[in-house]
Amino acid sequence: MRYSEDLIEEIRMKSDIVDVISGYVKLQRKGSSYFGLCPFHNEKSPSFSVSPSKQMYYCFGCGAGGNVFTFLMEYENFTFVEALKSLAERAGVELPQLEYSKEAKAQADLKSTILEVNKLAAKYYYFQLRKESAATAMSYLKGRELSDETINKFGLGYSDKYSDDLYRYLKSKNYSDDILRQSGLFNVDERRGMYDKFWNRVIFPIMDVNNRVIGFGGRVMGDAKPKYLNSPETKIFDKSRNLYGLNLARTSRKRNLIICEGYMDVISMHQAGFNNAVASLGTALTSQQASLLKRYTDEVLIIYDSDEAGVKAALRAIPMLKTAGLATKVINLRPYKDPDEFIKNMGQEAFQERLDNGMNSFLFELKAMEQQYDMEDPQGKTDFYKETARKLLRFEDELERSNYIQAVADTYKVPAEDLRKMVNRFALQGAGIQEVVKPKSGINRSHEKQNGFELSQKLMLTWMTSYPEIFGEVARYIGPEDFTKPLYHTVAGMLFEQYEQGQLNPARLLNNFTDSEEQKEVAGVFNAQIPLETDEERKMALLDVICRLKEDSIAHKSAQLAPTDMQGLMDLMQSKKELEDLRAGKLHLHISFN
Ligand code: UTP
Ligand code: MN
Repeated sequence: MRYSEDLIEEIRMKSDIVDVISGYVKLQRKGSSYFGLCPFHNEKSPSFSVSPSKQMYYCFGCGAGGNVFTFLMEYENFTFVEALKSLAERAGVELPQLEYSKEAKAQADLKSTILEVNKLAAKYYYFQLRKESAATAMSYLKGRELSDETINKFGLGYSDKYSDDLYRYLKSKNYSDDILRQSGLFNVDERRGMYDKFWNRVIFPIMDVNNRVIGFGGRVMGDAKPKYLNSPETKIFDKSRNLYGLNLARTSRKRNLIICEGYMDVISMHQAGFNNAVASLGTALTSQQASLLKRYTDEVLIIYDSDEAGVKAALRAIPMLKTAGLATKVINLRPYKDPDEFIKNMGQEAFQERLDNGMNSFLFELKAMEQQYDMEDPQGKTDFYKETARKLLRFEDELERSNYIQAVADTYKVPAEDLRKMVNRFALQGAGIQEVVKPKSGINRSHEKQNGFELSQKLMLTWMTSYPEIFGEVARYIGPEDFTKPLYHTVAGMLFEQYEQGQLNPARLLNNFTDSEEQKEVAGVFNAQIPLETDEERKMALLDVICRLKEDSIAHKSAQLAPTDMQGLMDLMQSKKELEDLRAGKLHLHISFN
C-alpha cells in the first residue's frame, strides 16, 4: 500500500517551500525568487535559489534541485516516506497507517535473519584471527604493516583451514540450510553438500553505512589465485549500492571523499590518517554509488591504480560523478601502483601533497582524449579543439563554462577568445548535441548519438516548462510519444496532461518520483537554463531541437512498425513529410517569448 497521490499533494501544498527551507538556510528575496548559500556544496556567494511560484529550489552552482520533499530527502538524508511524515506533522495532516503485505513482511524477516547470520559469521572470523592457530594470518597482516588498532577497527578476521566449521557453528545456532544458502557464505555441491565458501583466507567484513555487515571479502595470504573471493550478491548485499569503508569515511569531517579500487588501499589510507577513503566492491563505479557519495560530500578524489585499466576506470567514473553533482579530481600516484604502495614508500606527507595536486577531471579527460588525435598535425589539432569545444558545451552554467574555457586556453596555450567563439557557434548549431568531430576510433558513435537524442528530449522539457507560452505551438509538432527515453517519456506524459487541464505544475509533477536520483534528474530538467539572448536565436534553437526529437522518434517508430500496419506506415510518412517541411522552412513556428 502507498499513500495516495492526493494526500501527497495536499501535504506538499501545505508546506510552503520558502518557509521550510528558511528553517535551514538564510534566504534573501531578489526579484521573484529567494537566494541563499547552498547547503549542498561549499560556496561563498549565494547561488541557491528558491522559487515561491514554482515551489521548487535549484542551485546554479551544483545542480541540486527539487521540490520540498526533495529538499528534506537531501538535507536530512530522509527517504521519501520520512520526508512526507515530517512535513505532514509540520502541517498538521494526519497520515493513515500503512499496512505491510504478508510478502513484504516475510521479505523483511528474511533480510534481518541474513543480517544476523552475517554478524555471527563476522564475529566468528574475528575470534579465529585472534587465536594461536591463526599465527600465519596475523603475521601476514603485520607483514603488510597493519597495526593492531587498524586490524580491530576494520574488524578483520580469518577463516581457518577447515572447510565446514563456520557451517557447523551456524547450524548449532539453529539456522536452516535455506537461510544459510541465502547468506552467500556457503557453497553447495551435490557430492559434498554445503561447505564454507571462505577457507584459509584473511577476511574483510563489508559494512553498509549503518555499520551492518552485508558481505565479506577474503584474501589468500600469498600469491595464489583468485586473490580475493567475495560474497555473492544476496537479499542484503547489493554491490552497486554500497561502498567499502563508507561507514567510517562518512564521519571523517574532511571536505572530500577519496574513491579507490581496493580493500587494502582503503585500509592503509585510513591508517595513515586519510580516513575519508572508500572503495567500490570489485566492480566499476555505478551511478547509485555516485549518488551515495553525493549524500556525504560535494567533491570526490579519484585515486585508481596507475595502469591503463585505472585510467579507463577513471574516465568511466568521471561523468557518473558529474551527473550526481560531484566535483571530481584525479590523483596521480606514479611511479607507484596504488595508494597502499605509495604510502609505504613515500609516507603520509608526500601522499597529502598528491591529494592537494589533484587534476581537474575535465582536464584529465582532455589529456586522455589527446591520445586520439595527431597533435602534430594542424588538422588533428583543430579536430581536437572542436571536440573540446563540444565538450565545453556540457557546462550549462555560463560562468562555469567560461572558467573552463579559460582553463583550457591556459593549459593548451590557445587564445581564449577563439575557443569561446567556437563554443558559441556550436551552441547555436543545436546546443552541443551535434556530432561535430569523429574521434579516430569511432567506437562510441552510436552511443554518443543516443546521448545527443536524450539531450534534445531533455532540452525540449526545459523549453516547455521555462516558456509555457510556447506549449500550444510546440504541441502541434511534438507529443509525449516522441520522448523515447523512458523517464522523459513519463515526465512528458504528465506535462501534457497538466497542460490539457490548463495547469502546468512542475512541483506537483515531482511528487511522482520518489527515488531521489530520478527526482534530481527531473528537477534539473525544469531548471536548466537556455543561454540564448535574442528571440531569433531562441527560435532557431527551438526549431532545431524539435527536428532532432522528431528524427529520433521517427527512427524509433519505424524500427517498431509491424509490416502489416498500414495506418502506422501512413502516419510515419506524414511525420517524415512534416519534419522535412520544418527543416526546409516551409512550416513556421508562431512563437514569441515573454
Ligand atoms: P587489487 O588487486 O588492487 O586489490 O584489486 P588490493 O585491495 O590492492 O589488494 P592487495 O593490495 O593486492 O592485497 C582491487 C579490488 O578488486 C577486487 C577486490 O575488491 C580488490 O580490493 N578483486 C581483486 C577481487 O574481487 N578479486 C580478485 O581476485 C582481485
Ligand atoms: Mn594493492
